[in-house]
Amino acid sequence: MISSIQLKSCIFALKLNIVEQFIPDFSIDLKAGDSTWKSPSNIALVKYWGKKGDQLPANPSVSFTLSEATTQTNVKWTPKSGADAKKTFLFEGEENPKFGEKTFRFFEKIKPYAPWLDELDLIIDTNNTFPHSSGIASSASGMSAMAFNVMSMEKQMNPNLTEDYFYQKASFLARIGSGSACRSVYGGLVEWGETPSIQSASDVFGIPYPNPVDPVFQDYQDTILLVDVGQKKVSSTVGHGLLKGHPFGESRYQVAHQNLENLASIFQSGDLDGFIKIVESEALMLHALMMSSQPYFILMKPNTLAIIEKIWTYREETKIPVCFTLDAGANVHMLYPAAFKQNVLEFVNAELVGYCQKKKYLCDSVGSGPQQQ
Ligand code: DP6
Repeated sequence: MISSIQLKSCIFALKLNIVEQFIPDFSIDLKAGDSTWKSPSNIALVKYWGKKGDQLPANPSVSFTLSEATTQTNVKWTPKSGADAKKTFLFEGEENPKFGEKTFRFFEKIKPYAPWLDELDLIIDTNNTFPHSSGIASSASGMSAMAFNVMSMEKQMNPNLTEDYFYQKASFLARIGSGSACRSVYGGLVEWGETPSIQSASDVFGIPYPNPVDPVFQDYQDTILLVDVGQKKVSSTVGHGLLKGHPFGESRYQVAHQNLENLASIFQSGDLDGFIKIVESEALMLHALMMSSQPYFILMKPNTLAIIEKIWTYREETKIPVCFTLDAGANVHMLYPAAFKQNVLEFVNAELVGYCQKKKYLCDSVGSGPQQQ
């Protein structure tokens, strides 16, 4: 009989192994090279809000990988020419050291897993397909594209690494850059975070959602209404931190586990009413957590609420299964099956564009994941 203490130490050793496998055990000798990866953004259905330990999620989450909102990053590397490695960061072709700071901090954090970064001069050139400051976070797509480029360097030195390892480590590295980025690594539905209902789930990387999914979710639409495109008053990273000691933190984490478990049969059967109930409740709970943090804050705007009310009325009147979700901002993501695209876009143009900044919205849908260019 194995005791619970023995079982816990076995699990701990296993987890340690998962991380240790990402520490390179080959000799580091990188020739000059070049790679380009294009990675998509994602929209969470069950939200990641709250961290533990070293950038691990306080609860599991699941997201749709998007298709149109992407970051494309090209990296050129050469063995360093001086004592210090030189890193140049370009945004849309122009040198932009300020935008580069986050990437350079990321390189520092992933050094144990990618020590070659210290040995290389790099020129990084990155572009987003969505407008800068549209309120669409570029950290998920950006960190994912960067992580894949780092993996392309590893592959040059270690060409035999398996595809599974390549993607798992890309997700592992991306997570260290920005939690939600670890889900922008596979297409379709992606799960991140240990939970009793999904055995293969991990806190250290995302996995393709492993259970059956009805085809209706394969080309689900996401029309993003740009309500407020300014700089957010409170960053996601600060918001996560406010979950420490939050009065509703523990119960929130339980609800997230439960919602993920309940989604399994909804994804399998294509139960859109069930889907809507969970997705909208998750969005409102995320913002309720912000409003009940100390200090408290509100990221929704009056137009966010006006749009939500309109969506509810439209759904009631037409029975079209369109729902909303929110990320950490004022913009509204309208989620619905592809079959209703025309109806929903007519509704958006007739009744909702007036609530959007400069009448702008973006049309996106579930996508197939990152691609090497
Ligand atoms: C509300 O991944 O942006 O979008 O890990 O600090 O970089 P960091 O935070 P981030 O948080 C995303 C929060 C969210 C919900 C989600 O995507 O699950």
